[in-house]
Amino acid sequence: MLRRLHPVQPDSFNFTPANLEWARAQMTKYPEGRQQSAIIPVLWRAQEQEGWLSRPAIEYCAELLGMPYIRALEVATFYFMFQLQPVGTIANIQICGTTTCMICGAEALIEVCKRKIAPTPHTLSADGKFSWEEVECLGACANAPMAQIGKDYYEDLTPESLEALIDRMSAGEVPRPGSQSGRFASEPAAGLTSLAAAKGESEMNASVQLAIERGETLKRIDGTEVPILTKWRGLPQPEAAIDDRSGQDMTPDTDPRPSAGTPADKTGVTEQEAHASSAARPVSAREPAGARTDETSDGN
Ligand code: FES
Repeated sequence: MLRRLHPVQPDSFNFTPANLEWARAQMTKYPEGRQQSAIIPVLWRAQEQEGWLSRPAIEYCAELLGMPYIRALEVATFYFMFQLQPVGTIANIQICGTTTCMICGAEALIEVCKRKIAPTPHTLSADGKFSWEEVECLGACANAPMAQIGKDYYEDLTPESLEALIDRMSAGEVPRPGSQSGRFASEPAAGLTSLAAAKGESEMNASVQLAIERGETLKRIDGTEVPILTKWRGLPQPEAAIDDRSGQDMTPDTDPRPSAGTPADKTGVTEQEAHASSAARPVSAREPAGARTDETSDGN
């Protein structure tokens, strides 16, 4: 499937101050000079803030990480988890359409989405509140058919229960996630057949309990929800690693270095990223033994 940026783009993007702090904290998880490794969590945060990834958002993330726009665009357009078009202001409903859910009625759920939201996926409803898409297995097969709405799973769905969920969300409610048929978790749909006496006391499982306590199923993330868990920040860092015997500073030079004869350009080519030489290639008629050394010297 060809994934392109949406033709209509906002003028700009900025992280909220708290999300910017969060993004900078993620960058500290990687060695100096390797902050680009944080591209997926940073793009994901931008999506969680806005609901989708606009071109300004992708470019903002690239600038934050000091990487060329094209590298960030490659990531954003490759992974299907990144939404490249506006999604509903309330929710983008993700219906699982993989085998188990399909057998258990996912097609009927998709019909509900087509009727109540829009005839095609990735399309806003008339009021702009909802969009929908079909996704691959979300790992809740024992409670099929199911959908992810916002941050939570809604399981054991029927066309009627999905329709009711959409109506309640549209009215500003956040319905209880989890099984919609009353199951505690993924026990047999007809009830426990063994270990029945071991039934716990709580009415809902820990996942549903947490979702209800936080009440943020449909909320966009502005960064104020949970504390940043990068505990090493603020700790004193060793300034240098001095060798006991020689007294030499053994702190590794981690800055990216241009590869020999190939200066670093805007694509960030460094020694670590330099093209492989032909040294490991098997000898062939075109490249007999002894010929390779010369060829590699001119970059082939
Ligand atoms: S097939 Fe739908 S959750 Fe696995």
